[in-house]
Amino acid sequence: MSKAKFITFEGVDGAGKSTHLNWFAETLRQRGHDVLVTREPGGTPLGEQLREILLNQPMSIGTEALLMFAARLEHIEQVIKPALHAGKWVISDRFSDASFAYQGGGRGLDWGKLSQLEQWVHGDLQPDLTLFFDVPVEVARQRLANNVSLDRFEQEQADFFERVRAGYHRRVQENPRRYAVIDAAQTLCKVKHQLEEVVSLF
Ligand code: TMP
Repeated sequence: MSKAKFITFEGVDGAGKSTHLNWFAETLRQRGHDVLVTREPGGTPLGEQLREILLNQPMSIGTEALLMFAARLEHIEQVIKPALHAGKWVISDRFSDASFAYQGGGRGLDWGKLSQLEQWVHGDLQPDLTLFFDVPVEVARQRLANNVSLDRFEQEQADFFERVRAGYHRRVQENPRRYAVIDAAQTLCKVKHQLEEVVSLF
């Protein structure tokens, strides 16, 4: 059996990644892998408390980045590394790419500072694969329009999400081999088709 893999799902709010995550996990299970699904910010009791604060309380940009990475450190130590060591595949709904895209791209926090945090918190651990659900911002916003309540990030304007999307593109350019870029503007059926191609690699 192949080594357990760490896979992350990324994209702007409304890209539709969470819709496909459970199907992806289930398909891997059918292929005989033991799969753990988790998320960020969150994934641990402390991380979920930090999520509640991060999604609802106003705060400075630096605080936001530090709390994201604090929740991440807890998540890595308590959940991700133990699962990988036990042979479980880990699929996380968001990871550090989101900090570069949202706090770096969206909020304008220095990219170098985020790289230092990344190096400190998980220099020895990177996802084996990241599925980046790429979608034009206006399509993502139309999808969000059906949500009854929007969190602090979802309430941001279109220009914020354009910068977030550009932040993701920068990350993909910096390390293209780690990413599978999914055209998430397509119909559910066609997006699933793209995911089937990714799953067939395993
Ligand atoms: P979710 O909607 O995918 O559950 O993610 C919660 C929000 O948190 C989403 O709007 C993106 C944001 N976020 C960041 O700004 N930085 C991060 O590092 C992470 C993990 C999420």
